[in-house]
Amino acid sequence: MNNKFTVTSFKKYKLEKEKITMITAYDFTTTQLVEEAGIDTILVGESLGMVMLGYDTTLKVTMDDMIHHTKAVVRGAKNALVIGDMPFLSYHVSVEDTIINAGRFIKEAGAHAVKLEGGRDVVDKIEALVRVQIPVIGHLGLTPQSVNMFGGFKVQGKSLEDAKKILDDAKLLEAAGVCAIVLECVPEPLAKLITESISVPTIGIGAGGVCDGQVLVIQDVLGMYKDLQPKFVKKYKDLGQATVEGISEYIKEVKSGVFPEEKHTFKMKDEILEKLY
Ligand code: KIV
Repeated sequence: MNNKFTVTSFKKYKLEKEKITMITAYDFTTTQLVEEAGIDTILVGESLGMVMLGYDTTLKVTMDDMIHHTKAVVRGAKNALVIGDMPFLSYHVSVEDTIINAGRFIKEAGAHAVKLEGGRDVVDKIEALVRVQIPVIGHLGLTPQSVNMFGGFKVQGKSLEDAKKILDDAKLLEAAGVCAIVLECVPEPLAKLITESISVPTIGIGAGGVCDGQVLVIQDVLGMYKDLQPKFVKKYKDLGQATVEGISEYIKEVKSGVFPEEKHTFKMKDEILEKLY
């Protein structure tokens, strides 16, 4: 059984060099299972747009989608810290809007923290959230909400200029008060430099083993989402194939009358049954 992971655990784990585990979850049942496995933190990622809702991009996810799924995850979480991912345009318009939307994750859904993407451009929003006591996780590197500006899903920080910008942004986010920073798809040496340069933990996804923790999308870990298979993913189980096999067997047994068996059915007294005829 794991201990309760709180926002103060982020720095403690970094200091004690204990790796932080994070995985996405979007529903109650899955959350119970990742809890049982002993995960530290759960991200209700806006990746839900693709893996749960079937959109072709995460940009279509709304605040209402996020709140609906975050509520379900919070109901299943016991020890893990639950982080709500702020969707596209929920923190871009104004500081006021940002506080209202982040506040919904905490007040309505019961999340413990929010995550938002970006560097220097969102520092004022992060500072405002921290001032109203909402813990924030940053997200740098390949930030999916900027996919149209990046011209696709590409590794970020390969040029001197880009690498310096990401490093400087990490320091700005630290100064703004984030509890941790997700580093997505950056070269491992840059992730190492950032991890060594800041006091808050880095949580890598496609950033190598040098980060203070790791995050993956659960459908990728369990082989359930076939549309995209990034290089940085490790499939630990093939639940996708197991699901297809299990359901095929169910279909076969229903069609042939093998299921349900006697043990799956309910009885009634003969004298009652007779009166029905
Ligand atoms: O949306 C998401 O699930 C994420 C993680 C991949 C970091 O942002």
